Amino acid sequence: MSAPAKIILFGEHAVVYGQPAIAIPVSSVRAYATVQPGQGLCIHAADLNETLTVDLESELEHALAVMAQLVLKQLNTAPPNLTITLRSEIPLASGLGSGAAVATALGRALSTELGQPLDNATLNGLVYEVEKLHHGTPSGIDNTVIVYEQPVYFVRQQPIETLAIGAPITLLIGDTGISASTRLAVGDVRKLFEASPASTQHVLDRIGTIVQAARIAIEAGHIDALGDLMRENHELLQRLTVSSPELDQLVAAALDAGALGAKLSGGGRGGNMIALVTPTTANQVHAALLQAGAARVIMTTVN
Ligand code: PMV
Repeated sequence: MSAPAKIILFGEHAVVYGQPAIAIPVSSVRAYATVQPGQGLCIHAADLNETLTVDLESELEHALAVMAQLVLKQLNTAPPNLTITLRSEIPLASGLGSGAAVATALGRALSTELGQPLDNATLNGLVYEVEKLHHGTPSGIDNTVIVYEQPVYFVRQQPIETLAIGAPITLLIGDTGISASTRLAVGDVRKLFEASPASTQHVLDRIGTIVQAARIAIEAGHIDALGDLMRENHELLQRLTVSSPELDQLVAAALDAGALGAKLSGGGRGGNMIALVTPTTANQVHAALLQAGAARVIMTTVN
């Protein structure tokens, strides 16, 4: 069982305040769960070299143990004798949704092994509970795009809307190599909002307008129109104080090398940025990002 990474194309941070956001799965980079017979229920987080034991009664702290417990409670089942090993290709704390992806893979593997595979809506609700442990007050966009593995137009507390892609979108995902806390960045935006409500609301509203324009362009296949929208969204995120010198440097390098648009993606302050490219510019933008200090660059196409 597995689940993909994700990136937010437009609308991060503003989505916490009820604005829409657009996110896509990155299916080539995944978290995996494999199941073997065991003694009691053990979760082996191979990348962290941690093994967790799960029962129904204890107050568990580790997010993955909590996820397993939530699945057991949902299915009204005692812990089975299984060891579930989790492995992830998704870098941690970089805005690619590693926490939600690992929890999703685990929930799928455990419920399937118990003979009661969870439907996406139920699984999404459980992964959201786990996301709260990581992020405090997450909007729910990460778990939604990862569980459904489809492009989504997401508005907090609204029914899920998937997005039709009018023409392929090719993106490079450039990693600053700096891990950053989404929780902290979200908290700082909250402080900014409390200190300057009117001007911050103006920025959030403008981001919402960009997301709506982006949705129309994506569905119509007007990929060229997305470049300017990405640039402006990045500037607005700078005003929300969630960019960083490293992110700005990668964004500038991508634009200089011919990307149609570029912006930070996710919580910001570190983590990843994205650049919109064409088959002709992809190689030169890729090289420019590495030259400008990207720790890794992943190419993904949304169809
Ligand atoms: O850092 P990420 O990719 O998990 O993204 C967080 C997105 C925010 O809008 C900043 C927060 C949220 O809960 O939506």
